[in-house]
Amino acid sequence: MAQTRTDVRPVDLADSRSYVPGVPHQYLAWLRANEPIHWQPEKDGPGFWAVTKYDDCVTVNRDWERYSSARRGVMPFELTDDEVAQQSLMMVNMDPPLHTRYRRLVNKGFTPRIVRDLEADIHLQTDRIIDEVCERGEADFVTEISAELPLRVIAELLGVPAEDRHRVFDWSNRMVGNEDPEYGLTVEDAMAASLELYSYASRLYTEKRLDPHGDLMSVLTEVEVEGERLSELELELFFLLLTVAGNETTRNLMSGAMAAFFEFPDQWELLRSDRSLLPGAVEEMLRFVSPVMNFRRTATEDLELRGTPIAEGGKVVFFHCSANRDEEVFEDPDRFDIRRDPNPHIAFGGGGPHFCLGANLARMEIKVMFEHLLDRLPDLRPNGEMKRLQSQFINGVKHLPVGFSPAAPIRR
Ligand code: HEM
Repeated sequence: MAQTRTDVRPVDLADSRSYVPGVPHQYLAWLRANEPIHWQPEKDGPGFWAVTKYDDCVTVNRDWERYSSARRGVMPFELTDDEVAQQSLMMVNMDPPLHTRYRRLVNKGFTPRIVRDLEADIHLQTDRIIDEVCERGEADFVTEISAELPLRVIAELLGVPAEDRHRVFDWSNRMVGNEDPEYGLTVEDAMAASLELYSYASRLYTEKRLDPHGDLMSVLTEVEVEGERLSELELELFFLLLTVAGNETTRNLMSGAMAAFFEFPDQWELLRSDRSLLPGAVEEMLRFVSPVMNFRRTATEDLELRGTPIAEGGKVVFFHCSANRDEEVFEDPDRFDIRRDPNPHIAFGGGGPHFCLGANLARMEIKVMFEHLLDRLPDLRPNGEMKRLQSQFINGVKHLPVGFSPAAPIRR
């Protein structure tokens, strides 16, 4: 039965501080039951329609003709006209047919083979990361474990030389951390970091064109579909997009999943005793954590969603983190259940044209990391207070102190 308004404290979904105590799952459940298309006023924006039911999120994600990514970008916070223009050359902010052309070109480089070829390196990097902490018996799971792997994998994928990696890591972290006061970063810092990363990408592109190797950037300098190639600018912006899209998402998935295992220790034991459950466990981690909480679209015409009229130009924010807990689709949705089957979560998108390009790479990183953790640090346990990220967009963890029985390194 639907709850009444007084059962649940309303939450300002437009305020990044609302997410610090945790994703407001109780309130989102209330919205699904009572106001599935909810009007959320904004202090720094026009206000938005918050879409919380699974089916509606899938509709908004797939119906790109009526819910545009290009008009005002895909970030839940409001961008200025200048920012919309600057970001319009990134594929995530394009609509078909422009997006289709771009995606076809990029797909030619981002093949299953290029992902498969990274597997050995992902195992090696994961071992090295665990080697750094294993003798100590304690670590910050976020800064020392989960943040490291996606950064190293993206650098490898893009062919960033070892001596430049720390700079690329630093720019990438500065670009994404500006909502949280802990990092002391402003929007200007983030913009400056993206400019530096952009000019670095430009230099790298020139080198790759003259001396191509097998990495993704080298391949993309040469791919051609029906006589068309990616321009230099498009390639540089792709570099920027991958650096952001592949890092925070995967890092927070791993951190959030570790916290979920602490909350549901029987699931960790189950996975330890039966490794064949790992692929299903990865899907449940994605559903349960939903590291990308939401994305934005803009209505291209007057329309109706679940009976609610939305005017042309209306801002629509759909919540993956709510769709993935929709009780009409997932039984006992707040339970972390690694044997859940079927598990049609939409953590990578709802099957629309922007479905996550890095989904298989992310799945591989998560699988390898947890495989090694189960083998090498099997008694991982919480060892202090978890600190969450202040963000309206990413379900993030900044610090997660963990303890474990000290173990010897294996690669040194
Ligand atoms: C757990 C990890 C990840 C999650 C949850 C995630 C989630 C998502 C989601 C929800 C979208 C859809 C955007 C939209 O609808 O507008 C997306 C797009 C995208 N993701 Fe991921 N992602 C992850 C990891 C990665 C990785 C590792 C990469 C690359 C190395 C990546 C690259 C991209 C790119 C390029 C797009 C844009 C695709 C397009 O516009 O066609 N992602 N991701």
